[in-house]
Amino acid sequence: MVERKLIVYFDDAEERARDFATAIGYDVAPLNLAPNGWHLCLNESDLTLRHPDKQSMRLSLDDIRRRSLSGRRSPLSRACGVRDGMTVLDAFAGWGTDGLTLATLGCRVTCCELQPLVFAMLYDRIKRSEICSLNGIRVDVGELLADRMHCWDVVYLDPMFPLHPKTALPSYPMQVLADIADQSDTREIAEWSFECANQRVVIKNRIKDPPLIRSPDWQIRARSVRFDVYRAN
Ligand SMILES: C[S@@+](CC[C@H](N)C(=O)[O-])C[C@H]1O[C@@H](n2cnc3c(N)ncnc32)[C@H](O)[C@@H]1O
Repeated sequence: MVERKLIVYFDDAEERARDFATAIGYDVAPLNLAPNGWHLCLNESDLTLRHPDKQSMRLSLDDIRRRSLSGRRSPLSRACGVRDGMTVLDAFAGWGTDGLTLATLGCRVTCCELQPLVFAMLYDRIKRSEICSLNGIRVDVGELLADRMHCWDVVYLDPMFPLHPKTALPSYPMQVLADIADQSDTREIAEWSFECANQRVVIKNRIKDPPLIRSPDWQIRARSVRFDVYRAN
């Protein structure tokens, strides 16, 4: 089956949309042809994810700046054991908040994202961040790990948690992600990660949920999440 090309809809910025779409292998079309569901829209100022019945979404870099202020003391940073030049695979990159934070702290980060709309937003955010030690690839991370061509110091996994009726609604970008993100066999991907990690595999989890795989070597707790840390084989 031929995969249908993804489309970046343009409002008033056709040339900018063409440059952006070409860089990630997507097509362009005017906004009046946009579909009824979630779609990408690029105008002179920014890229947004739009839906006719829902609030639009754009990604800022402010939260990355805020998070990088807590530096290497943050739970994420301690869980990954951040050092200058350390390589990290952000296996389930989503909007890239964790991956970008790690890159601002000196890591060289590869962000993987499978869902095409999410990937476009991630790619745009990476470009705007102007961090050169950061790259984004649209790939099924299971395939990337299975071919065993690359290794990273740390493989970091932040899989989608199922929505929990008893917890507060997550931020709007996380609600949108829950609406459109891909679901994978995260246990299998977590097991494969050990083949490609030189130092650690780190899995983000809800604070009260059991570990995704076996018991971790140690855990780092944050306010609502927990990082399960495994030494590499
Ligand atoms: C919980 S989100 C990650 C959030 C992210 N840490 C952040 O800071 O924004 C998980 C992401 O993994 C993506 N995903 C699921 N299966 C995948 C796969 N096999 N390969 C790559 N990405 C995948 C989903 O589309 C989703 O965007």
